Amino acid sequence: MNATTLTVAIETLDAEATEAAIPALTDILRDCVANGASVGFMDWNTSADYERFWRDAAASVASGQVILLAARNDDGIVGTAQLHLIGKPNQPHRAEIAKVLVHSRARRQGIGEALMQRAEAIAREKGRDLLVLDTDEHGAARRLYNRLGWTEAGTIPRFALMPGGADCGSTFFYKDLR
Ligand SMILES: CC(C)(COP(=O)(O)OP(=O)(O)OC[C@H]1O[C@@H](n2cnc3c(N)ncnc32)[C@H](O)[C@@H]1OP(=O)(O)O)[C@@H](O)C(=O)NCCC(=O)NCCS
Repeated sequence: MNATTLTVAIETLDAEATEAAIPALTDILRDCVANGASVGFMDWNTSADYERFWRDAAASVASGQVILLAARNDDGIVGTAQLHLIGKPNQPHRAEIAKVLVHSRARRQGIGEALMQRAEAIAREKGRDLLVLDTDEHGAARRLYNRLGWTEAGTIPRFALMPGGADCGSTFFYKDLR
């Protein structure tokens, strides 16, 4: 961790705080898609689509299924990540990390790493010791996850689309915390 990272606070948002953060979270998601990230949306999606996504996320936070993290610096909320606690009876040890997003104005300061470290720490606290995620095979996140000790299970070609419509392969990772 470096000096810049120390000026960023990683918070866990409850459902009420998530609702209050929807404008900032929407701005982050819009910025990531506008900058070409394959994170579930296309370049024709609108702010209304992003707001709906975060309202649904707030409902999942309320039900306890999702733990939502926010990274806050002097500019407000500039990053976010989710830990999905798998509810299947035969996977009580597993969680998935999703929507790791840092606003383009706040990247390369260690915020993505700080979000991942906190998500991992919370997973341990919750007794979830097998973590899974997937990401664009060509994105910056792939380097981040490799650097943080995640194992690549493989890449599925054409798994998703880039915001502009091009094919996007997805690389699947896991991290065994035992
Ligand atoms: C992937 C993503 C979350 C990374 O966020 P970030 O805050 O930039 O992440 P970090 O700062 O921890 O690490 C990114 C890089 O910055 C570097 N870095 C970290 N602190 C730094 C500092 N103080 N000065 C310079 N570089 C620094 C890291 O070494 C890393 O370098 P690398 O990409 O060459 O390996 C961000 O790029 C993003 O939101 N992308 C779009 C959305 C996306 O694809 N998300 C993944 C979905 S699964």
